[in-house]
Amino acid sequence: MSASLATVSYIGATILFILSLGGLSNQESSRRGNLFGMIGMAIAVLATVLGPKVGSSGYAWIIGSMVVGGAIGLYLAKTVQMTQMPELVAFMHSMVGLAAMLVGYATFIDPASSFHLIDGKNIPLTHAEEAIHKIEIYIGVLIGAVTLSGSVIAFGKLSGRIGGNPMLLPGRHWMNLAGLLVVIYFGGVFLNSHNIGEAMTPVIVMTAIALLFGIHMVMAIGGADMPVVVSMLNSYSGWAAAATGFMLSNDLLIVIGALVGSSGAILSYIMCNAMNRSFISVIAGGFGTASAAPKPAGGAAQPAGEVVPVNATEAAELLREAKSVIIVPGYGMAVAQAQHTVFEITKVLRDKGVNVRFGIHPVAGRMPGHMNVLLAEAKVPYDIVFEMDELNDDFPATDVAIVIGANDIVNPAAQDDPTSPIAGMPVLEVWKAKTSIVMKRSMASGYAGVDNPLFYKENNRMLFGDAKKMLDEVLTVLRS
Ligand code: TAP
Repeated sequence: MSASLATVSYIGATILFILSLGGLSNQESSRRGNLFGMIGMAIAVLATVLGPKVGSSGYAWIIGSMVVGGAIGLYLAKTVQMTQMPELVAFMHSMVGLAAMLVGYATFIDPASSFHLIDGKNIPLTHAEEAIHKIEIYIGVLIGAVTLSGSVIAFGKLSGRIGGNPMLLPGRHWMNLAGLLVVIYFGGVFLNSHNIGEAMTPVIVMTAIALLFGIHMVMAIGGADMPVVVSMLNSYSGWAAAATGFMLSNDLLIVIGALVGSSGAILSYIMCNAMNRSFISVIAGGFGTASAAPKPAGGAAQPAGEVVPVNATEAAELLREAKSVIIVPGYGMAVAQAQHTVFEITKVLRDKGVNVRFGIHPVAGRMPGHMNVLLAEAKVPYDIVFEMDELNDDFPATDVAIVIGANDIVNPAAQDDPTSPIAGMPVLEVWKAKTSIVMKRSMASGYAGVDNPLFYKENNRMLFGDAKKMLDEVLTVLRS
């Protein structure tokens, strides 16, 4: 493939990636967005492999690694559970980090990278070009190493292999600062080095510090902040890819890396807002587990009152008498795989003229858009699925709010109790409905490990049991 055809293909792929991101911003167009992304990626891979920079001697290596990588990807995609998606994403980010690091080292030790190939002749880089090239390598390896080790720890925490408690070392901010200063110092040494031998020590020291920093940064972050961390690592993996693009002089990789980096940063910002956390306080760590959080010493939101359990028949009666119902799904709906029964119930109620709507919290479940994906899978129409802000004011005029396996996202302590670890996090105000029904298996707390005063409210009913089993029973009663 000629260089100009490869460039045209790259421009086409870039446009498709931008269209893909645009499509993914809305449920109705997300399928098309995915398709654009897949076509864009196929064009990008073909144009790179068949392009002028890859000789035919490299094909065997490329095809071999694509077969192995593709087989692993296919296996993972087929076997992974929906609830394991965040850890899979964290694992993939670690691969991007590893790739950026390895490309950095390979470019650094490749003698050909100190030359331009112009008209078949090797022309040495000028002094300024060499300095820029070295900075690209240094920053690429740095971002890659932080992304790699940070993502491995995030994977460990999300999959439960590493405990969710934040590890808070004394003087940790000073340690990070000292690490940064050492990295800057060795950056200077690397820049002024004259040969690979001299430059190797600073790069290795920087890599070690960057790996330790990634581990330290994510270890210090508590369970409840993990969603922000995953999206932040997503952003880092984008910048790592962009850095790789600079090292390999590949414009498409630079553009795509920047798209992923900036969209990951925007997503992190949106999620911080949804949890009422500042980005800096997330990175500073230490939030998100019951043991790390100060225990409230009394106050309005201390769970008090009586829990009123109901059975499936009583819950179905409440629904039968309602004119308007809001369903709030959470992580438990994903675990129970109850989305199809939820939709069956929705259909029965809508056939009876009940106004049924879904309220989705931005961090419901375990990954961005988790609930939307499940509801779309069950074919719930998009026009009855609303975001939290669109529907929070409607609870007082709602007869029944039914909470399916959600906990933190409907916790009134976030509003009422300034000492609560989740104080200030926006929540769905289900307790303002005439009656709320919470469906879960026990009184256990949710992801953030915080008690929920909703369960003790006078107008709240608890329907204990596995969400799918209980909803099946409710459906049977509603149909009878
Ligand atoms: P959670 O607060 O984690 O509550 C889920 C509840 O579901 C649990 O209290 C559990 O209670 C119940 N449950 C589990 N399995 C069930 C089953 N089979 N049937 C019925 N109930 C079941 O979930 P949420 O309200 O969706 O809030 C999400 C939380 O996860 C937030 O704290 C958020 O910060 C965090 N988080 C979010 C993300 C993203 S990006 N969405 C990623 C990581 C973490 P029982 O054990 O009593 O049944």
